[in-house]
Amino acid sequence: MSQTPPDPNFEALAQRAASLRAQIHEHNHRYFVLGSPTISDAEYDALFDELDAIEKTYPALITPDSPTQRVGSDLDERLPKITHPNPTLSLSKAYTEDDIRAWRTRIDKVLDTSARLGYVVEPKFDGLTVVLTYTDGILTLGATRGDGYTGDDVTANVRTIRTVPTRIPVHPDAPRPPSPLVVRGEVVMLKEDFKAFQQKMQTEGETRFINARNTASGALKQLDPRVTASRPLTLYAFEIVDAPDDSTPHSQWQSLSFLRQMGFLVSEDIQRFDDLEAVIAHIRAFEARRHSLPFEIDGLVIKIDDFATYNALGVVGKNPRGAVAYKFPPEVVTTRLTGVSISVGRTGVLIPNAELEPVFVSGATIKQATLNNFDDVARKDVRVGDRVMIKRAGEVIPFVIGPLPDARTGTEQPITPPTHCPFCQSPVLHEEGEVAYYCGNPECPERIARSIEYFVGKGQMDIEGLGEKGVRQLLEAGLIRDEADVFSLKPESLENLEGYAKLKIQNLMNSIEAAKKRPLDRVLVALGIPNVGTTVAKVLIKHFPSLELLMNATADQLQTIGGIGPSIAATVVDWFALPRSRSVITKLAAAGVQMVSTETQITRSEALAGMTFVLTGTLPTLTRDETGALIEANGGKVSGSVSKKTSYVVAGESPGSKRDKAEQLGVPILDEDGLKRLIADRGGES
Ligand code: IVH
Repeated sequence: MSQTPPDPNFEALAQRAASLRAQIHEHNHRYFVLGSPTISDAEYDALFDELDAIEKTYPALITPDSPTQRVGSDLDERLPKITHPNPTLSLSKAYTEDDIRAWRTRIDKVLDTSARLGYVVEPKFDGLTVVLTYTDGILTLGATRGDGYTGDDVTANVRTIRTVPTRIPVHPDAPRPPSPLVVRGEVVMLKEDFKAFQQKMQTEGETRFINARNTASGALKQLDPRVTASRPLTLYAFEIVDAPDDSTPHSQWQSLSFLRQMGFLVSEDIQRFDDLEAVIAHIRAFEARRHSLPFEIDGLVIKIDDFATYNALGVVGKNPRGAVAYKFPPEVVTTRLTGVSISVGRTGVLIPNAELEPVFVSGATIKQATLNNFDDVARKDVRVGDRVMIKRAGEVIPFVIGPLPDARTGTEQPITPPTHCPFCQSPVLHEEGEVAYYCGNPECPERIARSIEYFVGKGQMDIEGLGEKGVRQLLEAGLIRDEADVFSLKPESLENLEGYAKLKIQNLMNSIEAAKKRPLDRVLVALGIPNVGTTVAKVLIKHFPSLELLMNATADQLQTIGGIGPSIAATVVDWFALPRSRSVITKLAAAGVQMVSTETQITRSEALAGMTFVLTGTLPTLTRDETGALIEANGGKVSGSVSKKTSYVVAGESPGSKRDKAEQLGVPILDEDGLKRLIADRGGES
């Protein structure tokens, strides 16, 4: 019996389904065969899910060649094939907490009970599935998922991965494994390894490696295992796929510890729960932690722990009903780079910004993203007109990961640093070997505007009622020319400005008056001397308790202060030597701004008294000098080399051998937050 669907949109939906199928086929080919996608994984998933939803509503629209009708295939025609003992299944997805609850409701219906069930929650590794077969404890086969039934034989490649045991158990005391034992896991490239690999390849002119997942997948499917071996891959095991009856544990939780016992790497970030709401609370909390994991994840997997129940739940299509993948909202999307705008900071550094076709990512529409600096632009070979991948993660400013070179049409234009400052036209400076291109004109109107904005901002002079917009307005009206002019503003001259009612003027006058009493260290920070943040300012003022004394200090004198190295000393001396700086300081003094330290004793704690610290690597917000100054301001000492006497090593990114030494000697290691917490816990100030 043929039915006419009542939906007036049926025709439109049929067309949409056909278009989605065509797009998905093309992206499958690009991703799996060519290994160079032109859209992000999340965008691919969205196309797939849309097609799946249309087909579920109108099964009549399903065609035999629809991508939904098979387990996605990643077979590579160049590699030998194997047949999987059990079909390699996939997971159904959940995008919201309610999707997870609905999954549980479906389970209750099938089981016809609402019995208490245990759940195991695991990271959903963003990598590539491999299925490993061990015969009498020896690795005899390593295969990709392929289409679920047939996979690529990548045994030789898998053997090069250090975390894949070639013989189990790894420790001779562990029990003998059953035979055959088939284990499933995910091959990933750890974030740190990917970064290093990407940098290495970029120095060799290879810019195509833009995400860890594709890089791992490409590495695994090499015809020459030596190439695979040269790429840092890691395997995390997560499932026992096959073993003789009753030879392995009866729950997922125990299987994971069994796998660990056999010598496999199993993630530390697994947890077991007896209650679904606890699972949901865990997932919610986990999202914030996702970026601190050593590998990329795109969600979490929730599995019914007890295998008897899991198996009883059966399989729907290609997905077991007893497990579900909760996917985090996407953080990477693609869009078009329509142009580059340049901003100039108060220190003169030129920052290229990507102008984008508006795109929705991590809950917001963005039109701009940072390109960081021109070195990055050159290294990534980003061009105007390119389709680019954008990442917006947590609090991080959206940034351009890189272009999708395969989506080029040939009309894309290279991006070159400007030769002149776009704001003051003075020649752009760039020193060989340095990353920055900068405007070296201290009188540049844009630099001045930025300096004033910073000066009046929170944490500096904190002039309430005067923000970025206000500063620009006052500059345009010619009422201010530098930081100090803010203190000579007259109520009468503000009256004619747009948006300045009587009350607002009065309030602004009050906050300007209050700002004159800011302590000297705040004034010093507000002046925006490069490298002088709160901590350095406090240390400087302790030794030179007036701006006049500090202004006339020599680099040698400054360097005798603990925590002040040659680079801070030089920037401070250079800054005070500028005519503009001297003029601002004279005017500030004349306007009655605090120029002398009122505290004979700068707040200094003894929180770290008796402790010695060694610094290594780059911290997220503090420079090395600032970190040293912070430690000394709280009574601690900084030393250059790690020994048994070192209390802590403070390590940031790319830490080097000092960190290794600390690990060898058992010296505790802190990151920036850890240091600040230590100080705070001991009653100090950071
Ligand atoms: S369980 C039957 N656990 O996610 C389901 N899969 O479609 C067996 N994945 O390609 C998979 N992390 O490779 C499971 N902890 C984890 C996982 C995981 C990542 C991958 C898996 C598959 C996809 C799910």
